[in-house]
Amino acid sequence: MAEDLSLASIADLGLPTMALLAAHETGLLGAVLDNAALGNAVASDALAGSLGLDATVTRLTLNVLVACGVLAYRDGRYGASAELLARERDAPGGVMLHLRLLRHLPELLVSGKPLLAMDGTLDERAHHYAGVAPGLGNMFAGAAAELAEAVDGETVYDLGAGSGVWSLAFAARRPAVRVTAVDLEPVARKLRANAIALGVESRVTVITGSYFDVEPPDAAFDVVILGNVLHLETPEDAALLVRRAAAALRPRGTVVVLDILGSSDGAGFEPDPSHAMYALFLALRTAHAQMHPRPAVLGWLAAAGLPAVRPLRLPSAPPQLDCLLARRAHP
Ligand SMILES: C[S@@+](CC[C@H](N)C(=O)[O-])C[C@H]1O[C@@H](n2cnc3c(N)ncnc32)[C@H](O)[C@@H]1O
Repeated sequence: MAEDLSLASIADLGLPTMALLAAHETGLLGAVLDNAALGNAVASDALAGSLGLDATVTRLTLNVLVACGVLAYRDGRYGASAELLARERDAPGGVMLHLRLLRHLPELLVSGKPLLAMDGTLDERAHHYAGVAPGLGNMFAGAAAELAEAVDGETVYDLGAGSGVWSLAFAARRPAVRVTAVDLEPVARKLRANAIALGVESRVTVITGSYFDVEPPDAAFDVVILGNVLHLETPEDAALLVRRAAAALRPRGTVVVLDILGSSDGAGFEPDPSHAMYALFLALRTAHAQMHPRPAVLGWLAAAGLPAVRPLRLPSAPPQLDCLLARRAHP
């Protein structure tokens, strides 16, 4: 996250940002990545020739991309930097999806129509999250280990589990833990593969279907996880999901809400810079998803019988991610 959001810093960063977007739009970045997949770096003139670009400006643009760490230069050839390759492999959806979304912003501003409906039909959700969930798993791995260390419980229910990053961390950490995880195919298939890779598959039950429909076989869990799912839902459906999570909890159990929660003043102004940017980025990829304000989420938890909520700091999580622990009191 950029620390300096002043106009001066935007002027400084504008050129590398536009160079990156132009390289994406013209196919220059894709060509470098395709060659990197074959283990090759390419001369500037060869790239310009194959893409029909101006040779001089191609070289100038490539040099700016080297300066900002996107590309590497060696012996007259340009290739992908180690960081670009790592982000393309590990970031949710990869670098190319990120840039496609950014390029859609002017159109979004005019039409209000997102590039993707990641909160669309179940099929659309499944299709998009099959590509994105593994990257989310990489991003949250450290934080998930911290959560599993901080929260007690032997039975864990994970709604919209994705890669399974949060609940599988509990199973990997404690041999008595049993996990029930819900997601859509083909995301659920990847979750099963992750459980096998961790050697915990005998203690993990994966249920395929919508978290609004699925009834877990044993509806009395110590821990119920809502990991980055509330923002996909309208306030009404998010409140319903919170009620379903609370209903699956046993006395003294904990609902864990992980999400980026807004601090809007009620008139729609979002004062926190990283939250303001997250909300706009969400609008690029979803039709009705939204960053719910923290007071709204606390209200849904209280209405579901979970008024006692405390925040948990997860040092390895992205700074804007909130983690709320809502404990059911002893009856
Ligand atoms: C933003 S991802 C979060 C994944 C994971 N919990 C995490 O924090 O990394 C949302 C997940 O919810 C799943 N999902 C979305 N709608 C769902 C539904 N109606 N029923 C079950 N899973 C759903 C998606 O497939 C995706 O894996």
